[in-house]
Amino acid sequence: VNRHTIKIAIDGPAAAGKSTVAKLVAQELSYIYIDTGAMYRAITLKALAHSIPLDNEAQLTQLLEQTVIKLKQAKEGQQVFLDGEDVTLQIRSQQVTNHVSYIAKLPKIRQEMVNRQQSFAKQGGVVMDGRDIGTYVLPNAEVKIFLVASVDERAKRRFKENRRKGIPSDLEEIKNEIRKRDQIDSSRKVSPLVKAEDAIEIDTTNQSIKQVAELILEEAYHVLKR
Ligand code: DC
Repeated sequence: VNRHTIKIAIDGPAAAGKSTVAKLVAQELSYIYIDTGAMYRAITLKALAHSIPLDNEAQLTQLLEQTVIKLKQAKEGQQVFLDGEDVTLQIRSQQVTNHVSYIAKLPKIRQEMVNRQQSFAKQGGVVMDGRDIGTYVLPNAEVKIFLVASVDERAKRRFKENRRKGIPSDLEEIKNEIRKRDQIDSSRKVSPLVKAEDAIEIDTTNQSIKQVAELILEEAYHVLKR
C-alpha cells in the first residue's frame, strides 16, 4: 500500500469526539482532514441567511449548486470558507446546530455533498469524519472507525468545551439537543447513521482522545505495513 493513498473514515453520532480524534490522526500521518459536518453546516448557515425554508429541497439544492465551500488546513485547525468568507466560527452557532439535521436529510443535498467529498478524497491520504463516510462516501476506505459514547458523556464533553470557549450552556439542554440530533440522523431515509459492517467500533466513554487516536493509528499502520 502506498503511504499516501489510504483513506480513513470516522463515523459516529454527534459529539462522540470524531473531529478531535480525526484531527490528531491526520496530523500524525500528515494527511488531510476533512470535516464533512462542516459542509452541511455551511450550507445551513447560507440557507438561514437567505431565509429559505429548510424543507424546500429544490431551492436548497439550487442554492448549494451556486455555493463554494472550501476547507482549509490551518495551524489553529480547519478553516471553513463559504463563498470566500471565513465562517469557521459562525457554523458552530446554536442556530446552525439546531437546524443542520433538517438540511442533511435531503437526498439531493446529500448527493451533491457526497460528490464533492469523493472528489476531495481522490488522491487518498485523508481522514474524513461524518455520519456516512464508511458506508457511502468512501466505501473502499482502508480503515473504518465507528466512534460511540454515552449521551451523558457526550453532553458533558460539549458542556466543558462550551465553558472553555466562554459559551454559556445548560447540561440538560445539551443532552436533549444531542438526543434529538441522534434521532433525526439515525432515522432519516437516505444514508442514515449506521455502522459500516466492516467498521471497527470504539466506545470512547471511558477513553481519552489520545488513547482513541492511538488505536486508530495502530489500525492505519497495520494496513500500511501490508
Ligand atoms: O458532525 P457535525 O455535528 O458537525 O454534523 C452536523 C450535522 O450534519 C449532523 O446533524 C449530521 C449531519 N451530517 C451528515 O448528515 N452527514 C455527514 N457526513 C456529516 C454530518
